[in-house]
Amino acid sequence: MISRTPVKLSAEVQIRSTQDPSQAQDDFSNFKLSHHPMRRILVFLIVGLASGQCASPQTSDHSMPPTFYKDVLPILQQNCQSCHRAGEIAPFPLVTYQQARLRAQQIKEAVRLRTMPPWFADPCCGHFSDDPSLSLEQIATISSWADSNAPAGDPRDAPAAPHWAYGWNIATPDVVLKMPKPVAIPAHGDVEYTYEIVPTGFSTDRWVQMCEVRPSSRAHVHHAVVYIRPPESKWLRGAPVGVPFTASTFRDPELMHEAHATNSDMLLVYAPGSSPDNWAEGMAKFIPAHSDLVFQIHYTTNGHATRDQTRIGLVFAKHPPKLRVLTLQLANDHDTIPIPAGVDNYRVEVHGTLPNDATLLSFFPHMHLRGKRFEYNVVHSVGPPDKKIETLLRVNYDFYWQMSYRLTRPLFLKAGTELQAVAWYDNSRNNPHNPDPTAAVTWGDQTYNEMMVGFFDVAVPADMDKAHYFIRQDK
Ligand code: HEC
Repeated sequence: MISRTPVKLSAEVQIRSTQDPSQAQDDFSNFKLSHHPMRRILVFLIVGLASGQCASPQTSDHSMPPTFYKDVLPILQQNCQSCHRAGEIAPFPLVTYQQARLRAQQIKEAVRLRTMPPWFADPCCGHFSDDPSLSLEQIATISSWADSNAPAGDPRDAPAAPHWAYGWNIATPDVVLKMPKPVAIPAHGDVEYTYEIVPTGFSTDRWVQMCEVRPSSRAHVHHAVVYIRPPESKWLRGAPVGVPFTASTFRDPELMHEAHATNSDMLLVYAPGSSPDNWAEGMAKFIPAHSDLVFQIHYTTNGHATRDQTRIGLVFAKHPPKLRVLTLQLANDHDTIPIPAGVDNYRVEVHGTLPNDATLLSFFPHMHLRGKRFEYNVVHSVGPPDKKIETLLRVNYDFYWQMSYRLTRPLFLKAGTELQAVAWYDNSRNNPHNPDPTAAVTWGDQTYNEMMVGFFDVAVPADMDKAHYFIRQDK
């Protein structure tokens, strides 16, 4: 195990540009549920009593097993159908009885092992409003339903079908902006980060309450970051609008550099499995009139050439909010020392102090295939030189699940609060995602390189933009 501080540790929370978002995990051991037969029997009885119906012929005792319509469907609606319905990321829908019955045993296994619903926050730390994890009771309900031959029950017991906006996981968007030109993705090889500048055409300022990114070829999108380019911004002014480009499209070294460096505010960071943004009442992201959106997409190849034309859907706030949401990052950009081959717990950290008061809302950690664990901490000074570390989130990282983690209770932090992000990497053969445990890994954009970005969202007063947020008040 090697532990060290990174070479480039800025004393500030860096406003960094482009690093991408994806995510991973290695070990579910601390999530494993030991099976409690007593609890199952208990739930069985409770359900039996509550339902007051006669037992199905399969059950040998006189208690009623849970039924699909009454007991299982509400769980699927609440915790599974955001992904397991037509057009979403899961490989099959879990909407009808027939669909669920065929997979009853598989569903039972997935929920008992807690591989489904996917969630990677270590239960050690924090509470998150987007945590879809099932309770022990819910797991027991599904298990005993599956073990009782998956009875349907009475369709009249079914809860009302949830209202899903067609094609979206947010409310029906007020505006959908699509990349004007599709991007051609080759069958093989690396694809450089691809950009496309999309004019909003907004003649007035807009506050965004919800937004969601929808690639047309989801399987090829490793991440997307959508930046807001206000009209006065000089960023990428030399680049074409409405057509895809990459840094190496440019001859001009200045433009090449610009593609990878921006202070622009981010509207949204997307990766497969990440949930769309949906800010609480009174908070929103700001898009000034006449802004462009700049899509930065990292495509990965998978043997099939295709085209992608990503869209973003926006739902505007009904009232001007009191707070503006900013996406910041604790990032260790390009460590110069590679992660040695075979090392299984390589530690990298970065920290910074908040320039102004802010309310912490959510996290989105990002590493690549060697990612193992990621932590966000507040470092409390308890009389120098002593420090106390409070862990806000620990993610047992899984590269294939890039997720955001939203604090159930947003956390107000004073200016000067020290935040720390720590990442661990597993470059050994024990990491099933490791493409080459014999190679040292350098920092870089491609997934076989490594990266460390701790995105986090904060709420600040509505009239404060990102540049102003970073002006430190002298004490
Ligand atoms: C965030 C999206 C998401 C949610 C929520 C989700 N699933 Fe999945 N599920 C997937 C994806 C994607 C796969 C495909 C397997 C993979 O890529 O890991 C999958 C696979 C499965 C499988 C196949 C076996 C396996 O374990 O891979 C089962 C069974 C399953 N899900 C059941 C459920 C149930 C039951 C729930 C709710 C309690 C649920 N899922 C919630 C996305 C989701």
